[in-house]
Amino acid sequence: MKTPVLEALKNLMKENSVSFHMPGHKGKNSLINWGEYIPYIDTTEVEGMDNLLEPRGIIQESQNYAAEVFGAKATYYGVNGSTGSNYIALATITKPGDKILVQRNCHKSIYNGMVINRLKPVYLYPEYNEKYNLITGVRAEDIDRILTEQPDIKAVVLTYPNYYGVCSDLKTIAEIVHKHNKILMVDEAHGPHMTFSDRLPMSALEAGADIVIHSTHKTLPSFTQTSLLHVGTDRIDLNKLRDRYQLLTTTSPSYLFTLSNEIAIAYMDSEEGRRRLEWNIDKAQETIQRLNAIERVKVFTGDDNDETIFDKDVAKILIGIEGIKGSQLKKRLLSEYNIRVEMSDYYYALAYISPMNTEDEYEKLIAAIEDMAKKSPYEEINYVNIKMPTPKIVMSPAEAYYNHKAQVSLKDAIGKVAAAPVIPYPPGVPLIHAGEEFTKEIYDHIVFLMENGLEIVGLMGYNKDHIVVVE
Ligand SMILES: Cc1ncc(COP(=O)(O)O)c(C=O)c1O
Repeated sequence: MKTPVLEALKNLMKENSVSFHMPGHKGKNSLINWGEYIPYIDTTEVEGMDNLLEPRGIIQESQNYAAEVFGAKATYYGVNGSTGSNYIALATITKPGDKILVQRNCHKSIYNGMVINRLKPVYLYPEYNEKYNLITGVRAEDIDRILTEQPDIKAVVLTYPNYYGVCSDLKTIAEIVHKHNKILMVDEAHGPHMTFSDRLPMSALEAGADIVIHSTHKTLPSFTQTSLLHVGTDRIDLNKLRDRYQLLTTTSPSYLFTLSNEIAIAYMDSEEGRRRLEWNIDKAQETIQRLNAIERVKVFTGDDNDETIFDKDVAKILIGIEGIKGSQLKKRLLSEYNIRVEMSDYYYALAYISPMNTEDEYEKLIAAIEDMAKKSPYEEINYVNIKMPTPKIVMSPAEAYYNHKAQVSLKDAIGKVAAAPVIPYPPGVPLIHAGEEFTKEIYDHIVFLMENGLEIVGLMGYNKDHIVVVE
């Protein structure tokens, strides 16, 4: 008998580390004790249990309640993460061959959704804050200009907030998009909690977005893979949505995930859920203040002089220590202090908060960062100015994806068309994506980033010096 996953999960349980990462339940129960119900409630569409694909009974009632809580016209439970809900949303608001305006640093699921739905992207590049070395928001006036210049664009697809918690001025953007009579889709995977407190940035639905996607599992107490698809306005064709939902969803949707979506929402709508969120907002603010008072420590709080940071979600604590790389910070938090954070890039490690975090966990994080800042020797960190080239689009991501592909060295890729993305962190914006021309300028930029030790996703081969191109 072999059960390697079980063994690893048991070890993870024994480790009992502090969780500043997803999922948002942080290994704790809310509203119900899941142990009492599993595995019995993992059922199928037996009599009386309704059907997520064609809900008419209890599931419809549950989704109606969700819509009421989030202030949506309709809400659909997703059982394949925001990834699946992004695919459905894109398929609902476009038809194959359509042009869409997409934020360049959108998640892979949007890029994959463009392949599945054979869409043609026009990219909207986000801004970069050089003081903090991180990516910020997009400008409403850029969207206005592009929609004026290219009236054949069908929809605008934005990410809000970004991984670091940065929010663009979404209300103004929604007004502009609607002035042009286009649809605004917002991937709010990292923001479902924002609905539940006035002290957090405005939710995308409140800002006027037409269709909004939430990863329930990221910031609310829900199981991994749970998500929500909300309809905000009458611009969305509900019949088409229902059709695309059925096209792209398993015929055996999980009752565990369906219930988890329901429980997370009911919990957040309860007195205890709201109280815990408010407490966590207070504690996150206090933590940021205390960390920023420690020598060498720099926590990102937003930047008053940067208008592309319209608002900042306090539930993402981005921590930098002078003279320690972000990747080291993340590794050492685990190996020396038993704290797991969400992610790291060259400069920062990200502590990802949910309403389920506790006093003791924040205190451990503060103590660990203080200890590390006091005791660690300085290592050399190059402050790299990240100004990226904007490659020429030769074909759509779908055309590149479905073409013959080959893995070639970076040098040999010059003059060819990329068939997969190359993404440096920071800024987490694709340097090149499928369907774009790989030039000498891009080659030089990748070499420069590699020489400076930045993490680059998408490079292949033993020495990480190959990429995938169209043959
Ligand atoms: C902005 C954004 N959208 C969508 C997704 C996909 O979410 P899920 O993991 O729920 O499929 C992610 C995942 O990290 C994300 O960061």
